Amino acid sequence: MPSVFKILQKDAAGRIGKLTTPHGVIETPTVMPVINPNIQTIPASEMRSFGAQILITNSYIIFRKEELREVALKDGLHSLLGFNGPIMTDSGSFQLSVYGDVEVTNEQIIEFQQKIGTDIGVPLDIPTAPDVSRDQAESELEITIERLKEARSMVKEGMLLAGPVQGSTYYDLRQYGAEELTRHNFDVYPIGAVVPLMENYRYAELVDVIAASKKGLSPVAPVHLFGAGHPMMFALAVALGCDLFDSAAYALYAKDGRYITNSGTYHIENLNYLPCCCPICLEHSAEELNKAPNKVELLARHNLYVTFQEINLIKQSIRDGNLLELVDMRCRSHPSMLEALKRFYSHTEWIETLDPASKSTFFYTGPESGLRPEINRYSKRLERLEIKGKALITSFPIKMSDEYDQYLRFKPPIGAYPIELSEMYPFNAEIPTTIDYEPMDKALINTINLISRNADAQFTFVCDDSLTKHPRFAELPKNVNVIIRGSTDTFSSQP
Ligand code: GUN
Ligand code: ZN
Repeated sequence: MPSVFKILQKDAAGRIGKLTTPHGVIETPTVMPVINPNIQTIPASEMRSFGAQILITNSYIIFRKEELREVALKDGLHSLLGFNGPIMTDSGSFQLSVYGDVEVTNEQIIEFQQKIGTDIGVPLDIPTAPDVSRDQAESELEITIERLKEARSMVKEGMLLAGPVQGSTYYDLRQYGAEELTRHNFDVYPIGAVVPLMENYRYAELVDVIAASKKGLSPVAPVHLFGAGHPMMFALAVALGCDLFDSAAYALYAKDGRYITNSGTYHIENLNYLPCCCPICLEHSAEELNKAPNKVELLARHNLYVTFQEINLIKQSIRDGNLLELVDMRCRSHPSMLEALKRFYSHTEWIETLDPASKSTFFYTGPESGLRPEINRYSKRLERLEIKGKALITSFPIKMSDEYDQYLRFKPPIGAYPIELSEMYPFNAEIPTTIDYEPMDKALINTINLISRNADAQFTFVCDDSLTKHPRFAELPKNVNVIIRGSTDTFSSQP
């Protein structure tokens, strides 16, 4: 089968892609608004005007209710919802995870999804919650895999088939499950049962779940993060390689009087001002919005606008090669997100394998900048650098002469690099004058490593006083000639 997913542009483990479905091509990353087939808070027919390219609904709800089932079987799903673009349908697994039981088999729900003309169908996987026993996670994963294989053998053409990755909070099971599914060629790979992690702000574990699942999947497979609808975490999830999200949050939060922003949520009654310029927020004051008779619908509309605004910003960031700067910013919105950022960088070695080598400019945005894949890449690359003769390393602007055989610039968090690379990425990094402890440590470790590997060269290191106070500085090889300068002095090669 030809691949239905094409990757156009990459940044970190994130990408812009095109997914081909029976009802057209969509550009990812994107969010699928969840449509409740019983009541549409915002009509499906209006979803395009918010930026939605694809919707998601629940085939089990349609299957269970005779009026809906009859229409769907007779006129098709697209006619039932009033939307002629791609529609994904879930299977009732979520109901299974909440109520423990559903009155449908895997075979029945797959057949039903095919009959009503779903674009992306989902088998009846078992969403195994976090923290269950390993035995339970293993046995449910095996059932899920069996059902997915059964579905795969039933669906040969037309509908795309999703293969949800389960495995609870056992990361090896997540990876194993993903590897198993990959051998059966699903069209989309949702990462399942992460809603409880998100509801409890366990974003760091969410990062591990995504990373483990992704490591077991092909890097060119489209990935859906099931049940993720808050824009605060989209950038992080995209940077880990998630392509699709679904949002019931826009409507559920609205029902609860909650106003979504890209960095968190407000209760509308606590807002004095509206920090948004969508049509709803331009037309209403905070008080008017709170008192409006159609408050829920208005909030849902605002929530959808900010959801797609964030998606567009993420896509632009991938184009510009600064997705990690956006991730850094979003992860400072909540302590749990900051924890997730640190966990994200515990996967740097893997992210580096996917991250493009060249981007525009590296911006230092804080202590985690030193953990970025670009820096990891340089730490390994400097092992291949050969420095000979007299070498000058300096934190200051350089005037070259023939006094030294090699000139190197010291710039945290990179460390020392040959001046010839200055214009290249990431050596063109924009950094502040004051650098945090860890990135400075990273720069010194790289520099010490470079010096130690070139023991025959004679190094002079010109730096300012503050650098010498860093504990790592004491580990510089003793034969390095250190010259301390005031930070305002301009250094020329004749000190
Ligand atoms: N919706 C949210 N989580 C899940 C999941 O794990 N599986 C399915 N099928 N639907 C979901
Ligand atoms: Zn708004």
